[in-house]
Amino acid sequence: EKGNYRHFMQKEIFEQPVVVAQTLRSYLRRVEQTVALPQIDFDLASINRVTIVACGTSFYAGMVAKYWFEQFARLPVDIDVASEFRYRDPVLEPGGLALFISQSGETADTLAALRHCKAAGQTIAVVVNVPTSSMAREADLLLPTHAGPEIGVASTKAFTCQLAVLAALAAHLAVKRGRLTRAEEAEIVEQLVETPACLNAALAHDEEIAGMAHLIAPARDVLYLGRGPDYPLALEGALKLKEISYIHAEGYASGEMKHGPIALIDEAVPVIVLAPSGPLFEKTVSNMQEVRARGGKVVLISDAEGIAEAGEGCLATIEMPKVHPLIAPLVYAVPVQLLAYHVAVAKGTDVDQPRNLAKSVTVE
Ligand code: M6R
Repeated sequence: EKGNYRHFMQKEIFEQPVVVAQTLRSYLRRVEQTVALPQIDFDLASINRVTIVACGTSFYAGMVAKYWFEQFARLPVDIDVASEFRYRDPVLEPGGLALFISQSGETADTLAALRHCKAAGQTIAVVVNVPTSSMAREADLLLPTHAGPEIGVASTKAFTCQLAVLAALAAHLAVKRGRLTRAEEAEIVEQLVETPACLNAALAHDEEIAGMAHLIAPARDVLYLGRGPDYPLALEGALKLKEISYIHAEGYASGEMKHGPIALIDEAVPVIVLAPSGPLFEKTVSNMQEVRARGGKVVLISDAEGIAEAGEGCLATIEMPKVHPLIAPLVYAVPVQLLAYHVAVAKGTDVDQPRNLAKSVTVE
């Protein structure tokens, strides 16, 4: 059922505009321009803290959500990978919402963390793609993604659908806590409604990105840099590349690079910079110049404004549509997925079934 696609991963990348729209449909009331969550029997306004737990790509979706929950809802957020969370004996006080994110809903470490939080009296919310999964059954608040079955081991469409749900949840929490006016809520809804079109615009760069694969495929190491909500995207880009192309890659917060990894930079290390124009742009550009001054080869992913300002001298640039900061992480996911995909194809690896990996990790 791959249709005209060569791999499930490729098909799933291209399904994103449709499945993100499908997912958002159940969280947005377009006419009223409000966010609507499933019926629940407790008051989200009483939540005083959010603890997010997940693994892998789902964890990076959670990292993006941390920025959103703090910025929009002014809620303190704690986040950890599931395999660390339980064993550090986390402080879980009454009034906390514990949020678990998982495509499969069966990841053993995440499920164990969920049960730990439940026993500690937390309200349990889950963002899952499989509605019949263990996590879905054990939740107080079930927030499904409607990505459809994801076959490729590398998670793609599940990630953007998770982000869509988390953005809606952030807006909802912000409204409940009196942090968003009606007009601001309507603006967020409008931006989310625009997302599928922006994802299509990002996908239009497929061929161009395929043409860049030969620049990355010979590398031994690749660095991804991002700031703010694009920092988790850098981590996600690096994870995608590692798992399917077997090239060593690291994601770093742009500003942290000068505290160590800059020592790695030379002509042989491509550096992928994720930097939409906006208030964080200048700072990221100066980090990019630090890379270039050391002979590093930069692939800049930005919008027209960003590329006009800082694209000169880059190894390559990929132009994304200019989008609202809230949806930038969804849109910028596309070029990092496509880049990993095409590099893996260029290397001839088994894209859908990379070595040593399972789609659902059911051992702790
Ligand atoms: O099913 P889950 O979302 O709980 O899975 C979590 C990770 O195992 C998963 O995201 C993994 O990192 C992917 N292979 C990443 O592409």
